[in-house]
Amino acid sequence: MAHIGTDINLAKYWLTAGNVVGMPTETVYGLAGNAFNDDAVLRIFQVKNRPHFDPLIVHADSLAKIAQFVTDFPRQARQLAEAFWPGPLTLLLPKTAAISDLVTSGLDTVAVRIPQHPLALRLLAALDFPLAAPSANPFGYISPTSAAHVAAQLGAQIPYILDGGQSAVGIESTIVGFVSGQAVVYRLGGTSVEALESVVGKVQVHTHSTSNPAAPGMLKSHYSPRKPLFLSNLATAQANWGSLTFSSVLANVPMAHQRILSPTQSYTEAAKHLFGYLRQLDDLPIEAIYAELLPEEYLGRAINDRLRRAAADH
Ligand code: TXA
Ligand code: MG
Repeated sequence: MAHIGTDINLAKYWLTAGNVVGMPTETVYGLAGNAFNDDAVLRIFQVKNRPHFDPLIVHADSLAKIAQFVTDFPRQARQLAEAFWPGPLTLLLPKTAAISDLVTSGLDTVAVRIPQHPLALRLLAALDFPLAAPSANPFGYISPTSAAHVAAQLGAQIPYILDGGQSAVGIESTIVGFVSGQAVVYRLGGTSVEALESVVGKVQVHTHSTSNPAAPGMLKSHYSPRKPLFLSNLATAQANWGSLTFSSVLANVPMAHQRILSPTQSYTEAAKHLFGYLRQLDDLPIEAIYAELLPEEYLGRAINDRLRRAAADH
């Protein structure tokens, strides 16, 4: 069973030995391994039970380190990096041979980001290699936002989880690529489209592919609880159902089965609570979960994307 602690040196020991560890970030916890070591990268896929066509994000603590394994940094990418790194933004940039095809699933771009979490940044600064890290959940399940979430599902397979408390943002990074130098959003996430547009002007959003491996990770059914999740007919909810709402309190669902994302209708508070509340609902003695979509703006848009994918199975 994984040890849980805050010892950077212990995390560094396991990573340098080619093993994988749980790593806190401001978005969600990652399952981290040496991005330059194919055995460590293979181990990540194995522990997550992740298909090899779904590539990984590479994390580093500085632009200088990233510059060593990307061949081009388009102007809009540089503007976004300056505005939002460290932070919940991932950029797709052309890679050098230092990044193996295992990391990128054969694509010629690598996904990179500088996370905004003090422990992650200290760990990355202590290493002479970047960390490949997908979210630390079994493939398809809800992403973890605490060390306990990681331990609950992957703890038996990894030696150590670096405990950085509850993830402050709570949903994954926004993924942005560049087509003819123009920013395109491939995954909605912790940096809102409005925020991106305030820096580079109008951006395209292409997040709807379902099974196209060229735009991986946008599998329609994802972020799923085990319980069926429905997005409509809150009014018909019953005693043996649970609910996830933005701010409303429902009269027809027992209070113990209700999770309210943000009583004050704050998108950032809602994002922070989203995955933890979904896990709680999944563990309650209820048959199904009703979820209410948020207004389609700012982080509400990214939260709705997660809820729609979670509902897609049913
Ligand atoms: O916030 C986050 O991004 C978290 C933390 C740990 O950093 N990580 C994360 O990783 O969400 P993961 O593996 O769960 O999601 C990474 C997504 C996948 O959907 C993958 O398909 C996409 O990034 N991706 C990675 N490399 C790509 C590439 N070269 N082109 C297109 N998509 C890529
Ligand atoms: Mg994930």
